[in-house]
Amino acid sequence: MSPSPKVALISGGNRGLGLETGRQLATLGGYTVILGSRDQALGDAACARLAQAGLTAETLQLDVTDPAMVQAAIGEILHRHGALHVLVNNAGIRLEMGSLLDTDPALMREMFEVNVVAQLRLAQLAVPHMQRAGYGRIVNVSSLLGQMSTMGAGQGAYKVSKASLNAVTAALAAELGLSPIKVNSASPGWTRTDMGGASATRSVTQGADTISWLATLPDDGPTGGFYHDRKLVVW
Ligand SMILES: NC(=O)c1ccc[n+]([C@@H]2O[C@H](COP(=O)([O-])OP(=O)(O)OC[C@H]3O[C@@H](n4cnc5c(N)ncnc54)[C@H](OP(=O)(O)O)[C@@H]3O)[C@@H](O)[C@H]2O)c1
Repeated sequence: MSPSPKVALISGGNRGLGLETGRQLATLGGYTVILGSRDQALGDAACARLAQAGLTAETLQLDVTDPAMVQAAIGEILHRHGALHVLVNNAGIRLEMGSLLDTDPALMREMFEVNVVAQLRLAQLAVPHMQRAGYGRIVNVSSLLGQMSTMGAGQGAYKVSKASLNAVTAALAAELGLSPIKVNSASPGWTRTDMGGASATRSVTQGADTISWLATLPDDGPTGGFYHDRKLVVW
């Protein structure tokens, strides 16, 4: 008898890297793929595109900045499937490209809400169910732009938010210690999506590969790291 599928939630799953991660997990098999989408119709359209390719996924309305909706979404997953094993914290925004010296604090707060606070909120709600299941994989979709060791000028607010998300990864992984829950950050690289733009050097297939790999790590896989092209990179 084959084991029950692992239940995987991907935030921002209606397009770009989130949708491609859903496609890769559905292709792999053994996963019930749930595409979180703040616009239900866009999520349904994304599911329909996967269905045309013979792949199965579900949608769930999920604005990651709405605490009541996040709580309801986790409740709905438990109602539908009785478990949550994989959380891909993919939803993210990049609102400005300029200098930190000119960054409006309100804009900074908005970026932090989506790129850091929301990821932590989802993890806080997911972890107890993962602990109950004795299995968990949390992937925070970060960026090499958030790498402290190579931090340069420009795109300041986005970089600071992704560096903070990496700190969430490291601290959460440390708190979870030797539990069966693995928490890692993924860098997709500069990828051709609405955010990355048409000139980006990588396809969504390449960009989502490390995300999917971290989401499906074996029990002896790593935790508390930052990965690009499946290789550990320095923070
Ligand atoms: N593309 C790159 O070059 C690149 C490089 C490094 C890291 N990343 C990271 O990869 C992740 C995915 O980026 P992408 O390139 O696929 O970008 P994208 O095409 O702009 O997609 C972003 C996704 O996030 C969703 N989202 C934004 N705010 C949300 C909210 N409040 N609640 C729920 N969903 C929300 C969007 O939903 P809507 O459709 O409703 O707006 C969309 O599904 C992001 O975290 C990004 O920072 C991207």
